[in-house]
Amino acid sequence: MAPRAVTDRVGDENAPARDDGAVAQSPRRSDPVVDTSEEHSAIQESPTVAAAAALGGATHTSGADRSSVDAPGDASDDVHPPTPEIAAPSPVSRETSLPAASSAPALEALARPAKTRIMTVSNQKGGVGKTTTTVNMAVALAMRGARVLVIDLDPQGNASTGLGIDHPNGTPSTYDVIVDNAELAVVGANVEIPGVPAGQLLCVPATSDLAGAEVELAGVVVGREFRLRKAIDAYVQSREGEDRVDYVFIDCPPSLGLLTVNALAAAGEVLIPIQCEYYALEGLGQLLETIELIRGYVNPAIVVSTMLLTMYDARTKLAGQVAQEVREHFGDTVMATIIPRSVKVSEAPSYRQSVMTYDPSSRGALSYLDAARELASRDPKPNTE
Ligand SMILES: Nc1ncnc2c1ncn2[C@@H]1O[C@H](COP(=O)(O)OP(=O)(O)OP(=O)(O)O)[C@@H](O)[C@H]1O
Ligand SMILES: [Mg+2]
Repeated sequence: MAPRAVTDRVGDENAPARDDGAVAQSPRRSDPVVDTSEEHSAIQESPTVAAAAALGGATHTSGADRSSVDAPGDASDDVHPPTPEIAAPSPVSRETSLPAASSAPALEALARPAKTRIMTVSNQKGGVGKTTTTVNMAVALAMRGARVLVIDLDPQGNASTGLGIDHPNGTPSTYDVIVDNAELAVVGANVEIPGVPAGQLLCVPATSDLAGAEVELAGVVVGREFRLRKAIDAYVQSREGEDRVDYVFIDCPPSLGLLTVNALAAAGEVLIPIQCEYYALEGLGQLLETIELIRGYVNPAIVVSTMLLTMYDARTKLAGQVAQEVREHFGDTVMATIIPRSVKVSEAPSYRQSVMTYDPSSRGALSYLDAARELASRDPKPNTE
């Protein structure tokens, strides 16, 4: 069945202007906590330049450039670390002066995975970037030719908002999937983004009704943890062949309740965003134990394939220390790409957009493009059949 059409456009050309010229006044370069000694080693030297060029001629270099961060609450997305090359604020360095995605040439397509990758984006710690990662990875992959389904499994419905999908109570949603066995194809909505063909990026929105789903399923004895898996399996099967879905992202709530268990039961991979802040690793043990239990009893195929460091603030020693500690613990599971703290990333949802469309040449958008490329290049379960 055809997906529901949604009239709200992602990438609204009428979104309020945001080039506020605040960059030049940033006082943060003299902030005593500024420390740039680790940032170059902490950020991957990846080919951001190519992505920037494809987006319309941005001249970012990866590594040093992307390691610059925004001051929290600063309206600028262009607060660079005090390197001689870029410390002097200049209007020429404004990322917002670059063309929007709609006028940019098509991005180079990524290789499609051999089979559908179902990824649960999970971390029971709140506010670590699960939704931001889900939304921006999904859009970045779709912009690069992938067919992507986003399932919003959080009653807050933030992923739905970020993708421009209305989700008042009563909207066909993940609640209907989990509680009433509705088909994903019926409740999925087209996410409309310039340059992304209709049907290539779908979102199953969440409404606040979903908060009651766990209670409603409490009395169900058999199979309540497999509700989502059943729906995803049926959907993926229905789209086998040329139209095959490449990625399914499930945005989890910040808890380890039945909704998250449904997501873990359905997925092949777990993507864990880790905020580069103190306490980053706290609670991670509990999440990994839960995943172990799921592997033992519910879904033997699940692997924690990916960890992504988010909200990296290169001006603080702490961010570098956290990144280093996470890498020491988890090695190659941690993506080389790091997502910097960026005001553009945090502003985008208030315009019902991903940063990929809100400000495609911002460092946040370029970092998520890099992350998408890296994700596509590290399929942990290549189809060897
Ligand atoms: N790279 C970033 N730079 C700046 N702000 C960011 C960045 N990533 C996320 N944020 C902001 O941090 C807040 C939390 O992010 P997000 O909603 O993605 O986290 P979450 O893990 O999904 O939260 P929850 O646990 O409530 O679902 C949001 O306001 C978001 O806009
Ligand atoms: Mg969220």
